[in-house]
Amino acid sequence: MTNVAAIDPTTCTAWNSLTEIAQAASATTIRELLETHPNRPAELSLEAAGIYADFSRQRVSRAALAALYELADQTQVFQLRDSMFAGELINTTEGRAVLHTALRMPVGQSLLIDGVGVVGQVHEVLTRMGEFSDAVRSGTWTGATGKRITDVVNIGIGGSDLGPAMAYLAMQDYRDRSITCHFVSNVDPNDIGEVLAGLNPDTTLFIIASKTFSTLETMTNAAQGRSWLVSALGEPAVAQHFVAVSTNASEVADFGIDIRNMFGFWDWVGGRYSMESAIGLSTMVAIGKEHFTELLHGFHAMDEHFKNAPAHENLPLLMGLLSVWNRDFLKVSTTAVLPYSQYLSRFPAYLQQLTMESNGKSVRRDGSHVSYDTGGIYWGEPGTNGQHSFYQMLHQGTSTVACDVIVVAQSAFALGDQQDILVANALAQAAVLSLGRTADEVRADGTAPELVEHKVMPGNRPTTVFMMKKLDPFTLGALVALYEHSVFVQGAIWGINSFDQWGVELGKKVALGILADLRANTSKDSLLDPASVADIDKYLSLK
Ligand code: F6P
Repeated sequence: MTNVAAIDPTTCTAWNSLTEIAQAASATTIRELLETHPNRPAELSLEAAGIYADFSRQRVSRAALAALYELADQTQVFQLRDSMFAGELINTTEGRAVLHTALRMPVGQSLLIDGVGVVGQVHEVLTRMGEFSDAVRSGTWTGATGKRITDVVNIGIGGSDLGPAMAYLAMQDYRDRSITCHFVSNVDPNDIGEVLAGLNPDTTLFIIASKTFSTLETMTNAAQGRSWLVSALGEPAVAQHFVAVSTNASEVADFGIDIRNMFGFWDWVGGRYSMESAIGLSTMVAIGKEHFTELLHGFHAMDEHFKNAPAHENLPLLMGLLSVWNRDFLKVSTTAVLPYSQYLSRFPAYLQQLTMESNGKSVRRDGSHVSYDTGGIYWGEPGTNGQHSFYQMLHQGTSTVACDVIVVAQSAFALGDQQDILVANALAQAAVLSLGRTADEVRADGTAPELVEHKVMPGNRPTTVFMMKKLDPFTLGALVALYEHSVFVQGAIWGINSFDQWGVELGKKVALGILADLRANTSKDSLLDPASVADIDKYLSLK
């Protein structure tokens, strides 16, 4: 176990200072902060592993920043970080180490857990993944009828889906376009039904991705995929058309997949921290092992930065501290993730699991209840699309939403000045969200008096602009690692365990009971409440 105690942050002197600073500065605006300190962008920008972040549009003063760094110190964020990197059991409720950072350690580095060299194990699997993806990409690995694989169906959910699905879209420009990846996650029969309807069993490869190999949705979809294949090509074809990614070899074998075609990982890799483990097999098949290695290098570069950079230069630390500031002191409960890149269109969905499954907790690691807000709500859509949808609320709604505006400088396609149009919109939104527009400015535009109040933009939305040169594998890895470590910092300050997810278990159990009722076509044996029984009856009458 880790020796780092779960400190109640409200007992820290820095927490009290922050409360006072926030109260005293409640009327301060981002506009004023920028006007009085024009040097803010230089003071409040950091860059690491190819990711630039401009925090100057955060509603935070120098005094608040100083107190936030003190809070990090007093809650022992760096001590917990070091425990994580060292492989101590910081996932206390599951008695596990948290070592996704070991997945991206280069060959030659060493990390021993219980006397076992973890990096060697990681690279053994990476080598096997590389051989397999080379074989699929080159056509050496064929389906049972000797045809090349043209379609890969990744069946998984949560961390076994969101990372690979996000990365596949993000890496479109790096992928082998003769192979298409499909992602089936929902147990809704329409999900797998639609995917399989367009595929040819001869040329389809299934990757069954599940850490536990027991998740109801994934196992149901996997069985569906299997019977679709077997009915077309017969039982012996399974070996050529199914591979597994899991930590559970016996369940994989029971399913009928040859465990020589299983790619393993370890219990110290959390589902939402697993996209660069064997869970990323579809990513590797899509982009090839060399690009996958660059992705790992990007993750690792951000890891090294988080591990080694001094506090005031540490990008994930500052990002995490500002999230705590917004959540607990400015009472901003939600963050919109706004990537100005169509390739990053699944990034907000990916971050929803990373942020909310990690930090949506209300007890500290020692089981004591928190008396402050923890993990906020994350959501979003790519710009510019979101501008024509929910930005109205961002600009003039009664709730303040923090905004992460993500800008990629170079596009894959050079089409006229479309990229400049895109980036102009991103920067315009960042300016308007943070500065707004006063009534005087609106009047000065010659606006009719009765419309002035309608056109006032309050601004003051805490906004960060992230910028990178290009969305390449390295940068994608660095970007994901940046958010991972920011989530870590927040969880460390709040004293919670960011690496368990007990809150999702009960619903799974209750669903199994209801499923038994639905299968028996009656609610008469249900032990559930009257509302649930009524809903079961209604469903049975409609189906
Ligand atoms: O929903 C809970 C969860 O355990 C996630 O944390 C995980 O990513 C997902 O289910 C899938 O789990 P598995 O990979 O074991 O199928």
